[in-house]
Amino acid sequence: MKIVVLTGAGVSAESGLATFRDAGGIWARYRIEDVATPDAYARNPAKVLDFYTQRRVQLRDPAIDANDTHRALARLAASGTHEVLLVTQNVDDLHERGGSEDVLHMHGELFKTRCLACDALFDDRDDLTLQRACAACGASGRLRPHVVWFGEMPLELDRVYDALTDSDLFVSIGTSGNVYPAADFVRTARSAGARTLELNLEPSEGASLFHDARYGPASNLVPAWVDEILA
Ligand code: APR
Ligand code: ZN
Repeated sequence: MKIVVLTGAGVSAESGLATFRDAGGIWARYRIEDVATPDAYARNPAKVLDFYTQRRVQLRDPAIDANDTHRALARLAASGTHEVLLVTQNVDDLHERGGSEDVLHMHGELFKTRCLACDALFDDRDDLTLQRACAACGASGRLRPHVVWFGEMPLELDRVYDALTDSDLFVSIGTSGNVYPAADFVRTARSAGARTLELNLEPSEGASLFHDARYGPASNLVPAWVDEILA
């Protein structure tokens, strides 16, 4: 079977990372227009870079690690029984730490930095607020996190839609279905004839669009679902 899996912040919640829209979530503590838009960066780059530095510091904490959901999804892809594309809206590296090798980060990656002057891309776990010069072109004050902000185009969408329109099964895990285009993937999969399944703590905004759904903590649902698929 050709399977497309979409994950959201809910799969990292049990690792200790806050989601965005649950009670106490990131958008309850920060305004999107202050820290996650190109205008915010143009207006007050230090505030934006500090927001992402704080999230990097948290993700570097040894107490934060992959959980059973990340490991189960890695097991699914590694089995070779099915063709699996793992698309994540998450910018953390917990899928990779859980063993996934080919992760499509449609919203970018927290531990990557891009230079606005020369577009160079660096693996970088450091403090973004340090006024560092770009190692490739020498420009200073031009570095930004390689994270897709609101109003910017998600990454590798062609690859996602190619997979969705050729999929047998689309599974959405740990996402509220609030942000497009990810919230529309279920419609694309359905119109291509795929079965669709939602695995989430509670019904998402798009719950009615899925053929099947199971609700509860992902670390309970996902390993059990992977066992079924691999049986
Ligand atoms: N198990 C399963 N699902 C969970 C769990 C859990 N333990 N904890 C929370 N959830 C679910 C919530 O019920 C919610 O539906 O995860 C979802 C998290 O939703 P959001 O906080 O909106 O996160 P997400 O859907 O990933 O946001 C999408 O919005 O802010 C932007 O770029 C950001 O990638 C993010 C995008
Ligand atoms: Zn540069």
